[in-house]
Amino acid sequence: MQEIKDEGILDKLYDTYINDKGNYHYKQKVTSGKKLVMASSIDFPPYEYFDNGSSTPVGFDVEMAYAIADKLGMVLDVQNIQFDAIINAVNSGKADIGLSGFTVTEERKKSINFTSNYMETQQAIIVQKGGAGNGQSFGDKLYNSFVKDHRFTYLLSGLVNTLIITLFAVLIGVVLGFLIALIRVTHDRNGSFKVLNCIARIYLTVVRGTPMMIQLLIIYFVIFASVDISKILVAVIAFGLNSAAYQAENFRSGIMAVDSGQFEAGHSLGLKFGTVMTSIILPQALKNVLPAICNEFISLLKETSISGYIGLQDLTQGGMIIRSITYEAMVPLLAVAVIYLVIVLILTWLVGKLEKALRKNER
Ligand code: ARG
Repeated sequence: MQEIKDEGILDKLYDTYINDKGNYHYKQKVTSGKKLVMASSIDFPPYEYFDNGSSTPVGFDVEMAYAIADKLGMVLDVQNIQFDAIINAVNSGKADIGLSGFTVTEERKKSINFTSNYMETQQAIIVQKGGAGNGQSFGDKLYNSFVKDHRFTYLLSGLVNTLIITLFAVLIGVVLGFLIALIRVTHDRNGSFKVLNCIARIYLTVVRGTPMMIQLLIIYFVIFASVDISKILVAVIAFGLNSAAYQAENFRSGIMAVDSGQFEAGHSLGLKFGTVMTSIILPQALKNVLPAICNEFISLLKETSISGYIGLQDLTQGGMIIRSITYEAMVPLLAVAVIYLVIVLILTWLVGKLEKALRKNER
């Protein structure tokens, strides 16, 4: 930091971002080698923010970090996470440095080290502006939220991530949930799989008894704390494991709903447990639970909206980025809600068709 200060880089950045003088920008020169991971909450212009519809953060802190990374011969990797999570990210080793307009406080000093200061700020109370500047028409708001600088792309890329997470998590949920249900049912019928059944019960209790958000945070910040793993993968694992618990109970209730007389009839014909299961019980059970399985898919889609807590840019987070750029919350948040709603309506319609088809096939 001292070196880039002495070289005048900080002063020039100060001019660009704080004094509105000149158009100096620092670009990272080192392009390959070890990563220097920077945690930041990209919602705080002129220090860190998104500009021009791009998903590459800019701002005073970001360019200063580029200069520091060059000094270290490393490539800067900026991770956008909630402000409150930055200190944890640095302490857990998820990030090497945190730059986010941090104020030095005694409390924070207890858990992290601060470098020397690089900025003195002026702070003030804000009050409503009223009158002209505040009187944006709805059309202006729409334009600013989506059209200007191609800002709708934040929603689009977010939507892609949301769909990827949901799809793969559903797969994990269905497969794992089915296995868990089989273990539980087999154990209840003939007492086998004692240990596995015990593990499954603990798993179901813990997963269904704690909030999804806490599970996601624990998996990211605790379990994968020191592993360099893609956030999408973390989300897929977290949502998949969570969904499996609910799917397991869906499958189990479906299997239990098949009259136990059918088990007994199968047995008295001399069929083995496995055969009774696969050729008599499961075909009926699966048909019964198919709608429930699909409904869990729909819930999961909505549940992924908390992905932003681990700094993943999903659909919801895409809306939040737009809000942080325009300082206007209504339009982007409504848009996000409408997109979820449309997808849910489409999925609900498909489930409805499926149910009808199943009923027909019964007759
Ligand atoms: N300076 C304040 C602090 O340290 C606020 C910083 C907020 N930064 C941000 N990127 N949102 O608490």
